[in-house]
This record gives sequence, C-alpha cells and structure tokens, in this order.
Amino acid sequence: MKKAMITAAVILSLGAIFSFAPFPTVRGGSSEVEKSAPVNITFSKEVAPIFYKSCAECHRPGEVAPFSVMSYKEVRPWAKAIREKVVSREMPPWHADPNHGQWLNERRLSQKEIDTIVAWVDGGGKEGDPKDLPPAPKFTDGWGIGQPDETFSIPEQQVPADGVVKYLYLRVPTNFQEDRWITAAEIRSSARSAVHHVIVFIQDPKSSARVDNNLLVGTAPGEQPAIYRPGTARKIPAGAILVFQMHYTPNGAATKDITTVGLKYAKEPPQHQLFTRPVLNTTFVIPAGASSHEVKSTFTFKEDVHLASLMPHMHLRGKDFEIKATYPDGTAIVLLNVPKYDFNWQTYYVPKEPIAIPKGTKIDCVAHFDNSLNNKFNPDPNTDVKWGEQTWEEMMIGWLSYYPDSGAAAKAAE
Ligand code: HEC
Repeated sequence: MKKAMITAAVILSLGAIFSFAPFPTVRGGSSEVEKSAPVNITFSKEVAPIFYKSCAECHRPGEVAPFSVMSYKEVRPWAKAIREKVVSREMPPWHADPNHGQWLNERRLSQKEIDTIVAWVDGGGKEGDPKDLPPAPKFTDGWGIGQPDETFSIPEQQVPADGVVKYLYLRVPTNFQEDRWITAAEIRSSARSAVHHVIVFIQDPKSSARVDNNLLVGTAPGEQPAIYRPGTARKIPAGAILVFQMHYTPNGAATKDITTVGLKYAKEPPQHQLFTRPVLNTTFVIPAGASSHEVKSTFTFKEDVHLASLMPHMHLRGKDFEIKATYPDGTAIVLLNVPKYDFNWQTYYVPKEPIAIPKGTKIDCVAHFDNSLNNKFNPDPNTDVKWGEQTWEEMMIGWLSYYPDSGAAAKAAE
C-alpha cells in the first residue's frame, strides 16, 4: 500500500474498512420492524424517557437551552421545532460522523428514537397518562468531580441583557510554588444560562509557546467535567497562569457571572502524563468568497502514545474537519470526521478506549472553510482570511490529547 499519496476516495474506503476492526460501527438504522412503531405515542410513556436521557441535561430550568423538557406543559409548545431539530440531527448537538470512531461522550439519538419523536408530534403531541412517566432524572447541583482540592475564579463579569459579547480572555494566577498533577477539572459558572462556553488554558510563564496550545479543560453546554482515566494526569507547572476564554451569550436579562474552575490533585506523580498537542496550520489564506477552501495540517508522533481525546477547532468559517492516522505500515484510518462543523459547539471527542498510536504514525487533519455568502455565520465574505485570534479571523487546529506509553511522567514536555 502506498503511504503518502492515497486519493481521497481511497482514504474514505480505507477508513470504512478499518473502522470495523478497532471501532465496530454502530449505526442507528431504521429497519422495517422499527418503522412499525406503535401509533399511539404519548409524551408520558414513550417520549419523556428520550427527552430525560438526551435533552434534559441542557433543556431544564437554569440551563443554557431555551426551554425545558421536564414537563408536558413546558415542552408541548415546542413540539414542531423539536421534530425539525431531531430530524435534521441539529439536536442533541453532536457533530461526529457515526461511521468513524466510538465515543464515550456521544450524544446522538438512534433512528428509532427520532422515529418515535416524529410519530409523537405527527400524532398530535399527546400527553398520555402521567402515571406512565419515568422518574425525573437527577442532576448534581454540586461539583461533578466531587469536592475540588482548590478552585480558581475570574473576577465578576457583567453580562448585558442583549447584543453580542466579544470573547474575553481573563488571566488568573495559580501562585503554585511547585508543579501540580491534575486528575480532574471542572468549570462552573454562576450565570450558567448566559455562558455559552468556557475554555481554560494553562500558561506557563517559562514557556514561549502560544497559550492556546495548552488546554486544561473546556465546557460547552452539557459537557461533562474532565475526569482523567486512572493513572493519567495533567501537569500545571509552578507559577502557571490560568487563562479563561469566556463566551457569554446574553439571554434577555442582564446578569453577573463568576466562573470558577475546580481542580483535583493527584497525591503522587501519575503513571502517565497527559499532554495536549495542536496539529495546526497557521499559514493559510482563505480567498474571499471561497465556498470550500481546503487547509491541511500534519504531525508525526516520534514515540508510542495513546490518544485520550480529539478536538477540531476553527472559527466561524469552519465547515468540516477530519483527523486521520496513517500507521507506519501504511494503513490509514479516519479517527474523527466532523462533516458539519459548528463553531457554537466546542466539542471534544473522547474515544471509548484510548487509541494506540505507534511511533511513526502520521496524523493528518483536513479542514474546509466556507468564506462565501452562503455561510450565514460569515462576518465578511469579501475579505481574504488568515490565521488570527479574533473570531473574524480563522484558526485550523486539531487538538490531540495523549499520553506517552513510556510512563513518561518523569519525561519533560517538549
Ligand atoms: C448539550 C446541550 C443540549 C442538549 C443535550 C440538547 N439541546 Fe436543544 N438546544 C441547546 C441550546 C444551547 C439551544 C439554543 C440554540 C443553540 O445554541 O443551538 C438549543 C435549542 C433547541 C431547539 C430550538 C429552540 C428554538 O429556539 O427554536 C430545539 C427544538 C431543541 N433544542 C430540542 C432539543 C431536543 C429535542 C433535545 C434532545 C433530543 C435537545 N435539544 C438536546 C442545547 C441542548
């Protein structure tokens, strides 16, 4: 098998073949049997269990989504919109192509669940017998990681009632006298419903690396806290500064927010040190008006590692993103494909099992950008766009979180 120059078509089919072995593909197929679902679908019996499981984490009072699915009365006016959003798979938000990879944090309805919701709406959105309702799901009000060993907060921020708030970058010193090993991290915001997402980066004062190369933890609506697998931990070096990237989304009422990150510390250095590496391209120019401009980035691992999570990052012109591994023997596999990238959802994808990446494996990221008028998020289709921090500029990063197999806690980061 040729290593370097495989055509896109071949890569796709290889991906399809190889995705069978390490990652058996699960597809929510709608078979004939599933299609003949009972006609008399009710909220209480068939629909509430789906909403409680797949929507309530965000669609409940005090959370970021615009309505609650917790009761029939609250959800019924939204029936038509719900039908539309689940059929188009815009909701629940989940952007990975199900043909590649299997994800611990997957949020995706099966075709059968979608058919059930559609049948419910088309059948008049009936309530049914409230006695059929499943028990309401329980959500932790406190820290999902348990009591943190230490917390770090931004100064109080005023969030206006409406308009667009630019991204904020707020620096919070840790004052660590020595390196710290982090086993879990979680972000909590006091004005949860006005915070779209937060990413906390670690800035090492001794390193000249760009700050957004070193991601500690992020949160998008409904995202679970980061609890690293046993034996793995992330290092925050002495003197580090935590940089909070805040994305506020005003929700009609002016409010104040204090966002806090809670950290749990390992008692001793872990077996494996987690790193996050960007596979990026900073030299592209996306021509004005281009509807599908391709940008690639690549990186070859020089040691045996395991991948713990993957996250594509682009800005408002980001269209799609694929991350592929080509092993030293030439076989290639698509690790993650995000066919419809959405800047509003900064999702990281956690594989069910860490993915073994032998030394010499090449990681290729391929992104497309839509700088045309057809992209409704495009701030300006009349300008050539280059790399930049601002949302009207662009980025192209495949973030890989990984640990070296060599039990490299002792080994220095590059
Ligand atoms: C991870 C959080 C999350 C989950 C899970 C989720 N939603 Fe949403 N939903 C949102 C947010 C946030 C919005 C507001 C628009 C946006 O940001 O995309 C939204 C918007 C919607 C809308 C559009 C409302 C409008 O204003 O028109 C519908 C309908 C919807 N969701 C239905 C669902 C259903 C049904 C489920 C479960 C099957 C679900 N959502 C799961 C976060 C979520």
